[in-house]
Amino acid sequence: MLEDNLGRRFYYLRLSVTDVCNFRCNYCLPEGYTAADDSPHLTSAETATVIRAFASLGTQKVRLTGGEPSLRADLPEIIAAAKGTAGIRRVAVTSNGYKLPRVIDGWRRAGLDQLNISIDSLQPDEFARITGHDCLPKVLEGIDRALELGVTTKVNAVLLCDGAGRRLRDFLRWLRDTPVTLRFIELMRTGDNREFFASNHLRGETIEGQLVRDGWQLLPRERDAGPAREYSHPDFRGRIGLITPYSEDFCSSCNRLRISAQGRLHLCLFAEQGMDLLEEIRRGDTEVLAERIRALVTQKAPSHYLQQERVGATRNLAMLGG
Ligand code: GTP
Ligand code: 5AD
Ligand code: SF4
Repeated sequence: MLEDNLGRRFYYLRLSVTDVCNFRCNYCLPEGYTAADDSPHLTSAETATVIRAFASLGTQKVRLTGGEPSLRADLPEIIAAAKGTAGIRRVAVTSNGYKLPRVIDGWRRAGLDQLNISIDSLQPDEFARITGHDCLPKVLEGIDRALELGVTTKVNAVLLCDGAGRRLRDFLRWLRDTPVTLRFIELMRTGDNREFFASNHLRGETIEGQLVRDGWQLLPRERDAGPAREYSHPDFRGRIGLITPYSEDFCSSCNRLRISAQGRLHLCLFAEQGMDLLEEIRRGDTEVLAERIRALVTQKAPSHYLQQERVGATRNLAMLGG
């Protein structure tokens, strides 16, 4: 098992398959952004090597992220390779959902277990304003299909000040009959969104207080759970989670490592820089690759230090898949 000097254990790999995104969410990417890097992305064979190396170190879950992972035509192949790797129990994808109705059946056939989709507003015009794409009905149709196919589905909504109360009311109406977990994510400051952050950041506690007053109950934290605190309510089929990196102690239970689309190991979403593993990945020797990863993990920092206004080398979350 991969472990760092603070006793944190890493059995969850977040593997970015592209840093290109077709959306331009106003909190994430500035206008005109194309990609963080123009060096080539790992091939599907190279991603399979990475997954085998991590699996040999005890990784049990792989999440494929981006940018937008569905921009890769070979995503079903990558899902299938991950699912077919000995030791990998769950394969997940994080997507903006714009292609979802067309691709979800194929992803499920390839072995997809879990899906996280971003929806920041349930008002079609506001959704279009935030993302730059007027396609909320398609995304919702894709989510319905994912649920029909038995894919565990979560929805991510970034918390933004303006209109937060109205958006919460819309989401609550939807969650009565929709069995997804909606996670409110505190807007994180990155290199590209400093001004946006300054005028839009909202603390998760604001929402959490209201949920508790409305009878939502905090669920016991599962062993090795991710960063979200989850709530349920007897009158709702859906659940609500809060991801609050600006609260203390967020990082002490960190269980994840990241590989960028260019084959760099990122020990943290907000680390200074990635560590280039391309040579080992291309050589295809999973043992050598695994040993390098094991040695590098000892350098993982205790925290993201976002509270101290540090953002490391992270210009935006599309670079690395959040
Ligand atoms: P599951 O628990 O597997 O559903 O994954 P997740 O919640 O980590 O997945 P998702 O890709 O939907 O991530 C949601 C968002 O949570 C990310 O994009 C980040 O914004 C935030 N997040 C997830 N992991 C971390 C982390 O390690 N550090 C920080 N600061 N934020 C994270
Ligand atoms: N802060 C918080 N969440 C963000 N996301 C993208 N950028 C940010 C940010 N700066 C979210 C997306 C997506 C998830 C992977 O990360 O909305 O749901
Ligand atoms: Fe882990 Fe870094 Fe995320 Fe903290 S910010 S939970 S250390 S990846």
